[in-house]
Amino acid sequence: MLFDRPAAGSRAVLLNVRLDSSERDLRSSADELTQLVHSTAIEPVALIHARRNRPHPKWFIGSGKVDEVASAMDTGQADLLIVNQELTPAQQRNLEQRLERRVMTRTELILQIFADRAQTREGQLQVELAQLGHMQTRMTRGWSHLDRQRGGVAMRGAGERQIELDARMLRDRIRRVRARLEGVHRQRQRSRRRRARTGIPTVALVGYTNAGKSTLFNALTDARATVADQLFVTLDPLMRRTDIDGVGKVVLADTVGFIRDLPHGLVDAFKATLEQVAEADLLLHVVDAAAPDADDLVREVDAVLEEIGAADVPTIKVLNKADLVDQHHVHIWDDGRESELARVVVSARDATGLETLRKALGRALGVNAKPVTVLLNSGSGKLRARLYALGAVLNETVQEDGSLALRVRLDRAETARLSRKYASDREEMPALPHASARREAPPAEGSSAPKRSRAG
Ligand code: GTP
Repeated sequence: MLFDRPAAGSRAVLLNVRLDSSERDLRSSADELTQLVHSTAIEPVALIHARRNRPHPKWFIGSGKVDEVASAMDTGQADLLIVNQELTPAQQRNLEQRLERRVMTRTELILQIFADRAQTREGQLQVELAQLGHMQTRMTRGWSHLDRQRGGVAMRGAGERQIELDARMLRDRIRRVRARLEGVHRQRQRSRRRRARTGIPTVALVGYTNAGKSTLFNALTDARATVADQLFVTLDPLMRRTDIDGVGKVVLADTVGFIRDLPHGLVDAFKATLEQVAEADLLLHVVDAAAPDADDLVREVDAVLEEIGAADVPTIKVLNKADLVDQHHVHIWDDGRESELARVVVSARDATGLETLRKALGRALGVNAKPVTVLLNSGSGKLRARLYALGAVLNETVQEDGSLALRVRLDRAETARLSRKYASDREEMPALPHASARREAPPAEGSSAPKRSRAG
């Protein structure tokens, strides 16, 4: 791909640097760094911690720390240093010069993981766009640094002309990738509109990376999404039309895992994919309830949801990995969001709690959990045909008086529509009790109301 990436099997020293941080912050950022590296083929040989009040202008870390890093690299025969901070281009170059080895920043590490994982054309284009964007920021910053050094326009040399050329090539490339991505997005919008027309609700799984989204996706469907104890295994949106017991047909979408301080270029690059989260009918926010900093991770995910305009989408919080914690002590900070409809404790791995989750899904999507019985007289042929056409009829029996008893399961919107269309007198429709006017009623036809009906 675009970056000069370290070869598989590269040996790396990891440098965990925090500014103004507590001991706990330092530990959790070290865990994250280790996990990120574990998601690649790079082999970590040492982990060094550093805390600073502000970055050293030349190397980000102080000179003594650079020596410590250099000696750890010698001992571990490392050919790469990974720093979980954004370095300025100058700091990165200075470190590389002094260590005589490659230095990789957090953004570059994440970009590499994304590049390794992207499988669909869209995913690959999005990562490429993010990489180009990253290169562009490094280039302009590097350039202004050179400008100052050389005293401005009068002294522009060959190096700068080359930078200008590179910058133009980069801009052209970005334009081309954007155009291709737009084509893919138009295609996606067309399928989204098709789905909207069929009225099948879309449920999107969101959550911090490694929360167990793919495992839950598999548990709820029979799909085999890749599950691995690595970050960002799911990069491309995986969508499956599936039948959920008691809910009916839904499109379930697995999405990219969120991560704190997601490099900005990446949020932008993935915005289009994440848009489908904002357009979903319901979100399942999967939380690793066993993570020591679960509350923080929930906040991070909420922040991304806010950023992509999905804060108001109705949400069920799924507190996962219940097998690892005492269920009675699962406690996640209450964010007081109105969009949160329910909390369900599950273990996606052991398939426990899934029945409760399905019920919550059913309620959230407005499906009447219980089927109802509708009694139809001989004049209700149209309603009967409509119920069959909707696939709502579970069974049908003939009553002694010749009327038909249909056991049906209908969602609320459909119930409202049928009530308005076929009932001349709502009092007679207790079997369709949740009539709420979510959709406009179609123009009234000759009403052929059922004679009577009752709740099943
Ligand atoms: P990304 O693709 O990185 O966003 O991850 P994800 O949220 O899709 O997580 P995934 O389903 O890949 O699971 C991450 C790890 O957690 C895997 O090792 C799973 O086996 C494990 N896991 C998932 N659910 C459970 C659970 O209920 N209990 C336990 N103990 N482990 C689980």
